[in-house]
Parts: sequence; structure tokens; C-alpha cells
Amino acid sequence: MADMDGFREASDFGIGQAAGAAAFHVKGASSLGWGMKDRLSRIFNPATGRTVMLAFDHGFIMGPTSGLERIDLNIVPLVRYADCLMCTRGILQTSIPANVNKPVCLRSDAGSTVLTELNRNVLIDIEDVIRFNASAMAVMFSAGDGEREAVTAANLARAADLGNRFGIPVMGVTAVGKQMARDARYFALASRVCAENGASIVKTYYCDGFEKIAASCPVPVVIAGGKKLPEKEALELCYRAVNDGAAGVDMGRNVFQSDAPAAMIQAVHAVVHDGITAEQGYEMYQELKG
Ligand code: 5RP
Repeated sequence: MADMDGFREASDFGIGQAAGAAAFHVKGASSLGWGMKDRLSRIFNPATGRTVMLAFDHGFIMGPTSGLERIDLNIVPLVRYADCLMCTRGILQTSIPANVNKPVCLRSDAGSTVLTELNRNVLIDIEDVIRFNASAMAVMFSAGDGEREAVTAANLARAADLGNRFGIPVMGVTAVGKQMARDARYFALASRVCAENGASIVKTYYCDGFEKIAASCPVPVVIAGGKKLPEKEALELCYRAVNDGAAGVDMGRNVFQSDAPAAMIQAVHAVVHDGITAEQGYEMYQELKG
């Protein structure tokens, strides 16, 4: 029985004040459940609606990629500057301290390496996704690519089903087949199909006409950085992307292969969240590097 000594009668009912129903800051997520929204809020900063995800999952198909030879030395010092970490469970378990307190977008599919064609892609067990306390699952979708399209669409839909059951959002990762044109028409189709199949976030590539990709995708689109560019160009890519409607970046090589990765991720963060120009970002990069 609760102690009733000194019990204070409830009296402050806010009569006449409408019950609060604040708009949610992540595109397309207003009708999702609390757990999904909480996880999305860990990834997308409520103040800006944007994110800087640090992608270092490349080893899952490429092995010890340049800049990722030693995750403990190359990536752990950058973690504090990222809004979210995108990696595999193997790297998370072995190389990322569990007390960094960052949301994780867990690479949740597997099935091939760069040595062969992608032939049988599978999802990891949802129990492991939960065990790792992932804030999202990243799953590839390979639009327009022979047999891979059906396999990866099935994986994406299955991941969304499992995610809906446990309140874990899915990020659809648009993989580009060797034959596909890297243009807005293709990426708009691939992005939209990811969202239609239940993805709550889409990762795709920046290209001319990107504003049409972002506008026609009902969930936030983040861009991959792609191959290493000079730092100034990479910051211009970030600037153009967020100005054309991207909700941030999921960037790997242009951060961890930079001459000064910690300076670079801080400059990217400022371009994405603080509205500075690419030139200002580059100045910041040089100052921090110096
Ligand atoms: C690999 C990936 C990468 O995480 C993605 O391409 C982002 O990295 P980068 O900025 O180096 O392109 O999904 O499959």
C-alpha cells in the first residue's frame, strides 16, 4: 500500500489547454509507433531533422578496405563526431566499445563478396539486431539487376515485417548494378521502391536532379559519399545534397580515407546541421587539420 501521509490531491489539470501533439521531425514517420520514433530520433537530430551517419560496413563485402584496416585506430576516434554508426555486427562486437552511446544502423544483410556476383543475399537474425540494440537495420535493394532485384526486394520486405514487429526501422540501401545508369530516374525509382516496401530511411547517391529523388520519396533520404573525392568536393556534395532535400549523409570513404578524418567529419557535420557553405566547411576542415 502506498504511503498516503501528506498525500496531495491532484489539481493541475490544464483545463482549456489542448493536449500536446507535437509534429514529428522525421519525414513520413508521424504514424509510426513510439519505439520506431524513438529509434529514428536517435538517428535524426530533433533540432535539425538531419543526420551524419558514419558508414564503415565496407568490409562486409570488400575485406580490409583502405582506411578500415584497424577499426580501433581508424574509426573509434571518429565515433564521437557521428550521429549514428553504420556497421556490421562483427565489427560492432569486436571493435566498438559498448559505452560510446551512439545509435547503430546495423548492416543486416549478407551473402557475397566483391570476388563474385551477389547470388544469395540473406538477412541476419532479428534476435541479433535486438541483442545489439540497433536503432535501424540497413538492407540492400538492387533495383533493375536481374535475379538480385527479386532476392533483395524480398529481403527488404522481410526486414520491414520484422522491424514492424519489434519497432526497428529499416534503411533501404540502393545498390547500383553495373549496367544501371546512375541518374535521377533510376535512383528515384530505387528509393521509392524501398519506401513502398516499408523502409523508413533510404540511402542512395547524389546526382543531377536529386531534388526529384528526395521529393518523391516519402521517407528521409541520406546520401552515400561514394568514392574518395578531394575534401572540398566532398563537402560540396554534402552541401548540395542537403540543399536539394537530403536528410543528411551516410558517409564512409570521404571521411575515413581523408587526410584528416576527424577534421573532415566535423566539417561534414557543420555543413549538414549548421547550414554553413561548402567553402566554410572547407575552411573549418583546414583549420581543424592544421
Ligand atoms: C557499402 C555501403 C557503404 O556504407 C556506403 O556506400 C557508404 O559509404 P561510402 O560513403 O564510402 O560510399 O553501403 O555497401
